[in-house]
Amino acid sequence: MKKILIANPKGGGGKTTLSTNLAGYFANQGIKVCLLDLDKQQSSYGWLERRPEQLPEINSAKIHNAFSQKKNIEVAIIDSPAGIRGDKLSDAVKAAD
Ligand SMILES: Nc1ncnc2c1ncn2[C@@H]1O[C@H](COP(=O)(O)OP(=O)(O)OP(=O)(O)O)[C@@H](O)[C@H]1O
Ligand SMILES: [Mg+2]
Repeated sequence: MKKILIANPKGGGGKTTLSTNLAGYFANQGIKVCLLDLDKQQSSYGWLERRPEQLPEINSAKIHNAFSQKKNIEVAIIDSPAGIRGDKLSDAVKAAD
C-alpha cells in the first residue's frame, strides 16, 4: 500500500481539497483507495459522507492500522491538520511513502 501524506503547517493551504481530489481521482481509476483524516475538524470525512454513494468507492478509516488487511487498499491518502510540527510531523512523514 502506498501512503500519501498531505501536510502543510499553514492553515487553509489546500490540504483537504488536494486530499479529497486525489482520493476521487484514484477511485475513478479503479484503484482501491482509503482516505484517512487526522484533522479534528474532519473536513475530509465530512466531504466523504456527502459524496454520492453511486460514485466509485472511497474507503475511510479512523484507525490507522485497521484498514489495509480488510480491503486490500492500494493507496491511502492522509489529510493532516494545520499546525502539524515537531514529533507529530516527523512521525507522520516517517509513516508515509
Ligand atoms: N466549499 C468551499 N467553498 C469555497 N472555498 C472553499 C471551500 N472549501 C475550502 N475553501 C477554500 O479553499 C482553500 C483551501 O481549503 P482547504 O480546506 O482545502 O485547506 P486546508 O489546508 O485543508 O485547511 P485547514 O488547514 O483548515 O485544514 C481555503 O482558502 C478555503 O477557504
Ligand atoms: Mg483541511
